[in-house]
Parts: sequence; C-alpha cells; structure tokens
Amino acid sequence: MARRAVVFAGIALLASTTLTACSTENPEAGSDGGSGSKPKGKIVLGFAQVGAESGWRTANTKSVQEAAKKAGITLKFSDAQQKQENQIKAIRTFIQQKVDVIAFSPVVESGWDTVLKEAKDAGIPVILTDRAVDSKDKSLYKTFLGSDFVKEGTSAGQWLTDEYANSKDTVNIVELQGTTGSAPANDRKAGFAEVIKGDHKFKIIASQTGDFTRAKGKEVMQAFLKSHKDIDVLYAHNDDMALGAIQAIEEAGKQPGKDIKVISVDGIKDAFVAMTEGKINVVVECNPLLGDQLMELTKSVAAGEVVPERVETEEGVFPQDKAKAALPSRKY
Ligand code: AHR
Repeated sequence: MARRAVVFAGIALLASTTLTACSTENPEAGSDGGSGSKPKGKIVLGFAQVGAESGWRTANTKSVQEAAKKAGITLKFSDAQQKQENQIKAIRTFIQQKVDVIAFSPVVESGWDTVLKEAKDAGIPVILTDRAVDSKDKSLYKTFLGSDFVKEGTSAGQWLTDEYANSKDTVNIVELQGTTGSAPANDRKAGFAEVIKGDHKFKIIASQTGDFTRAKGKEVMQAFLKSHKDIDVLYAHNDDMALGAIQAIEEAGKQPGKDIKVISVDGIKDAFVAMTEGKINVVVECNPLLGDQLMELTKSVAAGEVVPERVETEEGVFPQDKAKAALPSRKY
C-alpha cells in the first residue's frame, strides 16, 4: 500500500510538471531507428501511435519522444496512420522483438482482446495512453493514462447551456465527431448530449464524423452549411476539425464565433489564435503532453511495481475572454 502511494505520488508530481516538459524539436529523439536491437540494461518501450491526424497528435508524439530520450528509455515508435490493423501489426512486432513494455493509444475502442492477450501471454506489460479500450478483462493492461473525454464533452455542453441560459429560442447545433468508434468521439458525444438533453431548446440537427482532421472538418461543414440554413452552434470534437470548419463558414459568407458559435476541444495554439480573433467561442482543454508520465509508468511496470489503474490528466476550459492572456503560455 505504501509502495503504491509512493508510485502514485511520483506520477501526480509529474502530472503537475508535464506542461513545462517539452521545449526543443527532435523528431527522432529516443528512437532506435528500427534496428530491432535491444541495448543491455536499458528499458525498451514499444509505442504504437494513432497517426499524425491533428496538432494534438503531433504534440503528443513529440512529448513521448522527448520524454523517452530524457528518461534513458529506448523507444520503438510506430505510426498506425489511423488504422487499427496497422496498430495490431505493430504490437505483434513489439511482442516478437521482446520489448520490455508496450504502450499504445488505441485508434478505436473495440477489438483489442486477442492481441492484448498475446502480449500478456508473452509477459509484456501494456500501458494504454490517451485513449481507452472497451475490454471487459482489465488484467490485459496495467494502467490507462489520459484524459476523461466524457468530462470534456460535459464541459462543452455546460458552456453551451450557460451561454443560452437566458434564451428561450431553439438552438440548432451541428456536431463534427472524431474518428468513428474512437474513445474521444464516443465519450465527447455522450458527455455533451447528457448535459443538453435536459433542455429541449437545444437540437442537434446534424452530426457526422470529420475524422479529427482539418480537411474533413472543412468538407463536412460545407455539407452541413448547404443543407441547413439555420445553424446556430458548431460543436467540434477537436480543434483541427473546428479550424477546417471555420474556413467553410467564412467561405459561406458567415462569421464564425458570431453567426455560428464554435465550441472545440484540445487547446492547440492555432485554436487559441482563432479565439483571440473571435472565431472560436470556447475551447475545452485536452492535454497531449503525456510523455513524462508515460515514461514514469513505463519504469514502474518494467520493475514489476503496482501502478494505479487510472491516471487522469488535469485540464481546464478556456472561454474566448481568457484566450489572449493564456496564448503566450500555451505549450502545444
Ligand atoms: O485522442 C485524443 C484526440 O485525438 C484529440 O482530441 C484529437 O485532436 C486527436 O486526434
């Protein structure tokens, strides 16, 4: 129990320092260049990343690579290009290579039990980072480090209900969902819906995936604008889709942030700039700088220590009027 408390305290301390951790650019940091060799005495971490779909993801990758280098952990890095089959392949390769620990951010929530069992049978501990899986068997992984996406959706919904607290008019909402089947898309949708369902003036008139990318966000928003003349609010599950949608709104001759209010999630610098320009009304933060905490957990599970089942990231909500003051200190 005392050991567990010590490990947890260490992780909590890192959580508070994570925001200042990454400052230099070195995309290859911590990587072994794919040689497959395993240096003696060094922990080898196989990390299967989702892809490079968003500014959030780029910041997350950089944080993991820099933290591995700093911690003296050899990182085998694989980019799944948003495809579950690529991630499963990467995990199987890590198992063959006998890495010490596997970490991954699952593209989607379902369909992981078989490969996770293979890792367990090979005696390789698995850490989930950023996104969760829906496996019933919790013994298939050691811990889950990341945000509470339901809470993020709830915060988005809360901002909206506060914003329209004094209005009785119908509020027509369009929703740009993240990658279909992914934990952030499922949970941000659910959290938001739960808050607004209590007030019938809020109506989601269209909801479609934009796959967390700028290009798709723009394309889907163009389609929304064509089929709905009366959109009051856009709820985008991430900043990249919101920024793409803003272009579509402007090209349609409307003012984002005024004619159509924009709610987004993540908190990348570009979104803060858009807030200072009045184009996004609120951003719910989702912190990608998980590298230091991940390395700390990696060391603990490699040493066979007990770690907390869940390590949650602390996050804030930034309405437009706070954006200018917050922008200079944004780290991603
Ligand atoms: O899993 C985190 C989500 O994935 C981020 O909100 C989004 O930008 C990313 O692509």
